[in-house]
Amino acid sequence: MCGIVAYIGPKDATPFLLEGLARLEYRGYDSAGVAVTGRGGGIKLRKVKGRVADLAADVPARFKGTTGIGHTRWATHGVPSDANAHPHLDNAERVAVVHNGIIENADELRAKLTADGAVFRSETDTEVLSHLIAAHLTEGVELEDAVRAALGRVVGTYGIAVLDAEQPDRIVVARNGSPIVLGIGEKEMFAASDVSALVRYTRQVVHLEDGELATVRADGFRTFTADARTTHRQPSTVDWEIDSFDTAGYEHYLLKEIHEQPGSVERTLSGRLDERFATAHLGGLNLDARELREIRRVKILGCGSAYYAGEMGAQLIEELSRIPAHSEPASEFRYRNPVIEADTLYVAVSQSGETYDTLAAVQEIKRKGGRVLGVVNTVGSAIARECDGGIYLHAGPEVSVASTKAFTSTVVAFALLALHFGRIHDLSPADGRRIVSALQALPDQIREVLDQSEAIAELAAEYAESAGMMFIGRVRAYPVAREGAQKLKEISYVHAEAYPASELKHGPLALISPELPTVAVVPDDELLDKNLTTLGEIKARSGRVIAVAHRRPEEKLADHCIVVPKSEPELDPLLLNIPLQLLAYHAAVALGRDVDKPRNLAKSVTVE
Ligand code: F6R
Repeated sequence: MCGIVAYIGPKDATPFLLEGLARLEYRGYDSAGVAVTGRGGGIKLRKVKGRVADLAADVPARFKGTTGIGHTRWATHGVPSDANAHPHLDNAERVAVVHNGIIENADELRAKLTADGAVFRSETDTEVLSHLIAAHLTEGVELEDAVRAALGRVVGTYGIAVLDAEQPDRIVVARNGSPIVLGIGEKEMFAASDVSALVRYTRQVVHLEDGELATVRADGFRTFTADARTTHRQPSTVDWEIDSFDTAGYEHYLLKEIHEQPGSVERTLSGRLDERFATAHLGGLNLDARELREIRRVKILGCGSAYYAGEMGAQLIEELSRIPAHSEPASEFRYRNPVIEADTLYVAVSQSGETYDTLAAVQEIKRKGGRVLGVVNTVGSAIARECDGGIYLHAGPEVSVASTKAFTSTVVAFALLALHFGRIHDLSPADGRRIVSALQALPDQIREVLDQSEAIAELAAEYAESAGMMFIGRVRAYPVAREGAQKLKEISYVHAEAYPASELKHGPLALISPELPTVAVVPDDELLDKNLTTLGEIKARSGRVIAVAHRRPEEKLADHCIVVPKSEPELDPLLLNIPLQLLAYHAAVALGRDVDKPRNLAKSVTVE
């Protein structure tokens, strides 16, 4: 949520700042701003409510400086407005600050600073940082020392970048709960909240740890702790392709990412299937077979779609290994003083690896001595680093706010984990081989679903104007229904509810009418007859039905059917989910929505 960029070097900072912000815009997009300085130049500031394109149009040609910071915002404190956009200045206009996160004691600090004469010009919590840092910048004080002193008075989470017009040879950045990455260039340095802003300029990066600060100069950087102890950080190389950050000819990132799934699934599987022993190799688990045998329960934690992917994962683990497994929203788990058991394996799921609620859940489990694995897409992210081991998805960067390819790869990663667990327990070699072959077949089967995109677009256009939609599925198909409803409401703003099909007659059947179509997920499995009975009940109440099924049901039971290739029953949910991504996408397009940047949302939720 919110994006930060910073540049220091021989060139003009503004083009990088604007380009970097455009790349980060998916993280937050209600306002944007830049501040630059140079030798003897004071601070130049431009900020606007709206998109980065609006900011770029507002920046004059003479807006130049060799040191600069920029921000794209997702409002938490104060409405989106020019005044609330970052960067924020102190009253002398010497210090400029951009900030991601939340300052919890902002009200208290604001009152103290106001009493000392500071005049606030915004409603943001961030502005307290500019005044506070300025208050510590007395004669001869280095910017990094002023920032350290100011942060010592702050309670909350932050990733920040700070400019001082009187010390234009440096930028100071700090991280506590909100990511900051340094990018190392040739006699120039970059910083950002996300590597996607940096890959066009450098592949050498340093991820700051929580509690760490850095002084960044054109010729290098120094990292240190809040009590001024120097830390030593080795750069790592980012292996994401620059192309991954373009739409590659697709109309939207979302459509591109949906279509990338055959390849991203192949990457998740790559080198991990063992045909000889009909199992999976997961080197990053850091748990040997003996330790895995001692696990009695699996608890999966994630937020939003990551949580629903975890529900599919829990089902896979229970079915293949017969170890009880359950998925819970990390955002709830962390607040309920959870019982942490030594023989439970905790698994945190996150595309970004930065979701604050998930990170906080991981930290709580670890603090209580639990063991946590991460199923994470972003290498080197906070959650990945915090976990004891895990599985990287290798799905490639996901830019569109709604998760698609990372969701699918997460389910594939759980299938690998479940297979591995299963084969350590009682899953037979024959069943192991059945799953291995089914996993290998997935990329081609996903292509078959994607080939139906046009037909699904027609269906979506027909139903997009509905007041709402019901999504139903039983057991394995219930998480499919939940994720389908989530995707539709996120990007099309059409109200969608998901229910277990078995629950329909216990209440929601009252809603069924021609105005509320139902998307029914109907796998060809042992529950098929029960599902067909439910469809009959909906049709008897004049409900319209779109079935997502392996076989077209009788005409009187479904108005439309999207036929999906059959996998093994345990893996069917993964394929049944793909048409629902396309349905949501095409409905959003039909309604003229901002598909990649839906209102009120942001890609990674790095605040509570
Ligand atoms: C849904 C979506 C969100 C995220 C959730 C967790 O399309 O994108 O629900 O899944 O905010 O994000 P990560 O996986 O980055 O932890």
